[in-house]
Amino acid sequence: MSVDTDAANKVLAGLRPFPVAVTTVDGGFGNGLMSLSAGSASIIPEAPRATISLTKFNKTHDMVSNSGIFVMHMLSAEDDQLAKSLEILMTLGGSSGRDGDKLSKLRTKTGVTGAPILLDAHSYVEARIAGTLDVQESSIFVGDVVAAEILNPGQRLKINEAWGKLPEEWIAQYDANHEPQLANARVRRFGQKV
Ligand SMILES: Cc1cc2nc3c(=O)[nH]c(=O)nc-3n(C[C@H](O)[C@H](O)[C@H](O)COP(=O)(O)O)c2cc1C
Repeated sequence: MSVDTDAANKVLAGLRPFPVAVTTVDGGFGNGLMSLSAGSASIIPEAPRATISLTKFNKTHDMVSNSGIFVMHMLSAEDDQLAKSLEILMTLGGSSGRDGDKLSKLRTKTGVTGAPILLDAHSYVEARIAGTLDVQESSIFVGDVVAAEILNPGQRLKINEAWGKLPEEWIAQYDANHEPQLANARVRRFGQKV
């Protein structure tokens, strides 16, 4: 049976409007990426959980998998914080930690797990992994929240607001970065191309 993938992609588009900055530390090296996969993963208010889905191609994936910890940050949409939010998004989402230290460009403090917290984020939850689902090209991590803080109160940034404000050069860099990621995902899902 063939799937109407256009319909499927319309159904699935935009389900998670808030971009999050995910950070972690592994072997003393801090790193992070941007993600649109964040969610809440617990119905128990006194025991919150967070979930993220990371692509195996990304360095942060292996670091979260090894260390068992991640921090999920929301970004601010407030006028006086917007430039900082876009700086975080462009720094973490436009290149890989394989090519250099991204976090040294951002203001951080150390969280209770030892992972870096982004001081210019809107807020964060820090989590220890409770379970991981391996789905070929990516892993879905679910973590117990062990710390949380609102750093810069106000509205949280949505991805549609952010895209319109990002420089064209950065979007071109993001697209170039995305190509090998997509190719790698297809190989992991379907096997080697013939
Ligand atoms: C808005 C946005 C959403 C993204 N969502 C995800 C995601 O859900 N999962 C993922 O693995 N990468 C996602 N990425 C891509 C990574 O942020 C990007 O490939 C990053 O450069 C990986 O860095 P790393 O190799 O240092 O981990 C997203 C990027 C952007 C800009």
